[in-house]
Amino acid sequence: MKLKVITLLSLLLTTSVYGQINIGNNRKEWNIMTNSSVYQVKVSSGGDVQVSYYGNKLQSDKLHGNMGAEVPVRGGHVSALPVVEAVFPDGVRDMELEYVSSEILDTDDFETLKITQKDKFYPLTVHSYIRVLPDYDLIEKWVEVVNTAKKGTVKIENLQSGSVFLPENSYELTHFAGVWGNEFRPNTTKLTQGTKTIQVKDFKSYGSSTFFIRPEGENSSQLGEVWFGSLQYSGNWRVDFEKFFKGNVQVVGGINFWDQEIYLKPGKSFTTPRMVFGYSNAGTDDVTLKLTSYIREQLLPERYKNVIRPVLYNSWYATTFNVNEEHQLALAKEAKEIGVEMFVVDDGWFKGRVNDKAGLGDWTVDKNKFPNGLKPMVDQINALGLDFGIWIEPEMVNPNSDLYRVHPDWVFHFPNRQRHEGRNQLMLNLAREDVYQYLYKCFSELLRENNIQFIKWDMNKALTDPGFMSAPSDEQRAVRIKYVENLYRLVSALREEFPDVWFENCSSGGGRIDMGMAKLFDFNWASDNTDPVERIFIQDAYLSAFPANTMISWVTHEDKHQQNPSLEYKFDVCMAGVLGVGEDITKWNNEQKSIARNKITQYKEIREIVQGGNAYRIISPYNENRSVLQYTSRDKKESVIFYYQLSEYPKNVIPETQRTTLVKLKGLLPSTKYRIEEIDHVYTGEYLMSVGITFPLRGTYKSQIYKLRSID
Ligand code: DGJ
Repeated sequence: MKLKVITLLSLLLTTSVYGQINIGNNRKEWNIMTNSSVYQVKVSSGGDVQVSYYGNKLQSDKLHGNMGAEVPVRGGHVSALPVVEAVFPDGVRDMELEYVSSEILDTDDFETLKITQKDKFYPLTVHSYIRVLPDYDLIEKWVEVVNTAKKGTVKIENLQSGSVFLPENSYELTHFAGVWGNEFRPNTTKLTQGTKTIQVKDFKSYGSSTFFIRPEGENSSQLGEVWFGSLQYSGNWRVDFEKFFKGNVQVVGGINFWDQEIYLKPGKSFTTPRMVFGYSNAGTDDVTLKLTSYIREQLLPERYKNVIRPVLYNSWYATTFNVNEEHQLALAKEAKEIGVEMFVVDDGWFKGRVNDKAGLGDWTVDKNKFPNGLKPMVDQINALGLDFGIWIEPEMVNPNSDLYRVHPDWVFHFPNRQRHEGRNQLMLNLAREDVYQYLYKCFSELLRENNIQFIKWDMNKALTDPGFMSAPSDEQRAVRIKYVENLYRLVSALREEFPDVWFENCSSGGGRIDMGMAKLFDFNWASDNTDPVERIFIQDAYLSAFPANTMISWVTHEDKHQQNPSLEYKFDVCMAGVLGVGEDITKWNNEQKSIARNKITQYKEIREIVQGGNAYRIISPYNENRSVLQYTSRDKKESVIFYYQLSEYPKNVIPETQRTTLVKLKGLLPSTKYRIEEIDHVYTGEYLMSVGITFPLRGTYKSQIYKLRSID
């Protein structure tokens, strides 16, 4: 207690406040504050940089002990998962870090604490960064390692973006995993002593690095502590959750260094991607709000960050590879009639692409399908008043292509080993500069020569055979990292040259959705599963971590459960994000067209709230046999509610107590009066949030949309 007073006193005497980062004890203690959390770091008398607390801000003036190193390394006692594992030129594999200096930087309008440490003997410097985003209750962490030697190469066997320690407690972890067509399934598991790892090893991630950790038993979406995080990386990533005997937990994440290593020559450095960590004491709804607002406001590409997304048509379900000018124009004409704004030709338009066995890599238009090139079709689509978009899959090649015949060495491969195909294709080795240049040339020409407003960027094969044997031996194990660098570089370069083009991220559906891609793409194709019932589940989980304005959904003919859902129901499901249509609408009758036209009109009336507002998953289909989503404008004056009924329970099988009749809303202003247009009724926000309104549906696969508007 005495010690505490003395420490507090010394803190008071020496503390200087730099915005969100309080610096104390002669610049050797930092209280990094967000609205709800504090992250405490200090330098020990021995020169170690230690974390003393991460959690509720109310704990910020308490004296906390040492939880572990801010940058744990391989070396000394094995007490935490390492962030850095290096091998020095003489073969020494242990590291010993000591504090050197610190500074506060301004990084894109937010404060960043930069702490510099160096190895006590070898010329290796480690800069660790903590950027504070107070309103989102987030910190971003990343690490830079520099070989400061004049000679001698350092091998980096592992370099993570950052680590945090959670206080001793019993915890449950929720993360999202999946497979093709079943993306983002929430998984919850108790963290027991040992390590739980979520990771990607083949570039395909149908789940996410996003995680939530809660004290066991705290299940409310509106109350309780949640530590959360996600990586800003798209290749092979990994997040480890290490639970120690005493109950404390370490979370470490970054690039997955499985089968990877980096060689740092003298003077060279490597900087990791960023990882975000967050803390909330207001339950998972608050976490969702923070994560989604952060992505929407801080990460998404600037050009369209605040722009309403268009209603799309995509040809894939209607035509697959059988695209031709006449039919695409017929589709476009119908699309225009029902209110579509962007017409996207999917796969099948380029040379030799009659099926998935040929064509990838040869990015010129197929003259058999479009004898006069794309231009006449694009002109006519534009003349209809529609923007034009196109599908590409830059990172792949079919062995049956001119590109592969000329450059068989451009794919990842090992000599004497099989080249493992997936969907009859191989992956180009984008770590190669010649491959990068070829792809830049192909797609910049395509965009320069055609009035293309939208790119759907697909990636359909998992990484296999990651060989690049013609590269210097010290680069061969870094190919995956280089690949991702060049992928980001390629998209950035194209976006810079063609700033008005929208970019959609797709990887056989949602195989590469993450915060790394969110910085470069305006939206994601969340899944190839367009069955409306299954989509409700995928969308619910997606919306818990990503904003609705990044989630494209198409109305198609898919009906996996043979429930014959109505067209209205399909539209209502797809209207919960960025609405698209994917059916062969030339086959629709007048009634279907009229339903579509009305629904698209309705969507245009509510899309500002859906795309720009805050989403609340009021009832999750994972918990009940129905789903309710609510979107509220940021000034809280308007709201849209989507009610979806799944199958109907046989009467009395499920006690009514398990399925509330009155559904309480969220995120409204308590004393404001709202009119619900559909039932012509006025309620106060307080009533709607504490009493609720009746779930309006009975019967199988029914849906309803309510609009709330403040009348004050
Ligand atoms: C996979 C995507 O997820 C689909 O939407 C479609 O674009 C196909 N590829 C085209 O080959």
